[in-house]
Amino acid sequence: MSKRQHLIDYLHYTWQAKTAHGVHSPFVYKLIETLIDDKDCKFSAFDELTAIRQQLLKDKTLLEITDLGAGSLVLKSAQRRVKDIAKHGITRQNFSEFYFKLINYFNCQHIIELGTSLGLNALYLAKAGNKPTVYSIEGSEALHHFAKNLQTQHKVNNLQLIHATFDNGLPNLLNQLPQLDFFLVDGNHTYEATLRYFEMALPHQTENSIFVFDDIYWSEGMKKAWQEIKAHPQVSVSLNFYYCGFIFFKKGFKEPLHLSIKQP
Ligand SMILES: C[S@@+](CC[C@H](N)C(=O)[O-])C[C@H]1O[C@@H](n2cnc3c(N)ncnc32)[C@H](O)[C@@H]1O
Repeated sequence: MSKRQHLIDYLHYTWQAKTAHGVHSPFVYKLIETLIDDKDCKFSAFDELTAIRQQLLKDKTLLEITDLGAGSLVLKSAQRRVKDIAKHGITRQNFSEFYFKLINYFNCQHIIELGTSLGLNALYLAKAGNKPTVYSIEGSEALHHFAKNLQTQHKVNNLQLIHATFDNGLPNLLNQLPQLDFFLVDGNHTYEATLRYFEMALPHQTENSIFVFDDIYWSEGMKKAWQEIKAHPQVSVSLNFYYCGFIFFKKGFKEPLHLSIKQP
């Protein structure tokens, strides 16, 4: 997709994006007011996680990456430094903190992340809420090992890092879980793969599940996938944050609600 198209999409998003005051749904209003507008909503784990990010941003270790997904718009070489991945290839701090707050707010217990990369976002997920069980799948061996070391170093024991392709790892994992509370799709950003993972996970959702799709404006294919996902009849609320989109399956909405929301 051209830079011009990205700019047009971004301007369109910012023009539509609402704050809590522009939202009529009590469910969404409370969510934004509590998790985004309340700037005092900070957690003690954030300082430690920010410090880990700072370390990764300085780490010159070279990793040999096998990319099993749609690749990166910025990082093209197979040999990548940890600091470059930390800068361009992982969830931004504001969104990792937002996921943390959401998991806390909804008391999510069973969490799957597709795409571990360095493992920092997985640490946010594992440190959130009431000791949830977090599974994170990564296809690149070098990244999986890096993330395992990070996990051991920080003594996080409610996180299971799985070395597999998403297509091989996800079905088994889903069958082991009683339900899926938080599902983050953060890799292999193609139209077909994104819809495939959505359809695999869909039978495991409950009324309180949250599904998150990263990079929904990454390409025309991802834009199309997002449009189809949010239009699914089981989806009652979708929130578009430009860099990612959230869907909810809450009951009691007469009409599905689709909103663009200002970023945290
Ligand atoms: C954007 S990164 C994940 C970032 C991570 N969630 C974070 O915020 O720190 C996407 C990761 O997905 C992995 N990946 C992409 N396609 C995959 C596939 N089909 N199977 C397994 N891993 C895949 C890539 O190797 C890459 O590390």
